[in-house]
Amino acid sequence: MVDIDTDQQVDGIGALPQKWSVENVRFSADGASVVILDQTLLPGETKYLKLNKAQDLHEAIVDMRVRGAPAIGIFAAFAMCVIAGQSKAKDYIEFKADVMKCGDYLNSARPTAVNLSRQIRRMEKHVASMEGLPIYRIIESMRCEAEEIQREDIEMCLAISKYGLTLLHSGDGVLTQCNAGPLATSLYGTALGPILLARERGVDLNVFCCETRPLLQGARLTTYELDTAGIGCTLICDNMASIVMSEGKIDAVFTGCDRVARNGDVANKVGTSGLAILAKHYGVKFYVFCPSSTIDPGSATGDNIEIEQREPEEIKEMFFKSPIAPSRVKCYNPAFDVTDNRLITAIITDKGICEPPYYESLTKFWHPSE
Ligand code: MRU
Repeated sequence: MVDIDTDQQVDGIGALPQKWSVENVRFSADGASVVILDQTLLPGETKYLKLNKAQDLHEAIVDMRVRGAPAIGIFAAFAMCVIAGQSKAKDYIEFKADVMKCGDYLNSARPTAVNLSRQIRRMEKHVASMEGLPIYRIIESMRCEAEEIQREDIEMCLAISKYGLTLLHSGDGVLTQCNAGPLATSLYGTALGPILLARERGVDLNVFCCETRPLLQGARLTTYELDTAGIGCTLICDNMASIVMSEGKIDAVFTGCDRVARNGDVANKVGTSGLAILAKHYGVKFYVFCPSSTIDPGSATGDNIEIEQREPEEIKEMFFKSPIAPSRVKCYNPAFDVTDNRLITAIITDKGICEPPYYESLTKFWHPSE
């Protein structure tokens, strides 16, 4: 893992117009590494990492240096190109076996976001479609495919943001959970996209951000993105959502998601289902935003979605000067939870706004690769 100068960020996906734009995933100029913005250090430090070893690439996902469902899918596609470029395979059969092994390894990094496995399988299928070509040509083509995945995500985020904007009115109070902005995706983000777009169009909102324990993506990343975009926001601890809603400050909850089941159940950052229950109680609208690549026809309901379990240290030690609990104490640290589709007002995708019953409305928006 190599740290690089932030000035090097200009040779990636091109000039990015908005001041809040970030290049969270790109190839290095020689194409031999993936460059990421290390999200674990934000907001205090802006550091880019240049990664090319399989283990470092895998760990970057596990340690959440790169995170957010769409971003880890894009990153994995880029990582596969870098690792494939190091293959010593003598023929196509050996090369394809190397690619499959690499895909399985990267896919084992985090289980809940369907985007990770989806983009890995897409890259594997791409390689399978190029049998007969010289290996160097296949690697070149893999790079184009990975960049195409990123380009598609940019388009999907913009489309989601435009649909989402239609749900907002000047003066609305919006509550966010975790981080579903540019850092987690490409350009606008999903749940944060309509808020960024609203700002560009002069629509003023009152944005509240849940801090999102234990890794504080809301406090560290969402407020950072909003602040950079010049959007005022109010940070609250997760357990303050009820009082803020009871005081009538929130018109809608805007959240991203990591996997949508066929019936509309949604897995997202732990705490999301609690917000949905509160929203129902207080008559607040609850909107979920995602690219169509996050809809998983392979999961019939939320019960089929594997929930990632993470290390206890995240709860007991991280972000504190000294440990905040006895070291022997047991922790339960699920990274995600499932929100029952009956609590969701609508699911906003790049293809349109899905309303209940979700079995019917989502079917129209399955990703084309299904
Ligand atoms: O554990 P994280 O930080 O990767 O979790 C991220 C979320 O829960 C996001 O809401 C989700 O990935 C959607 S990002 C557009």
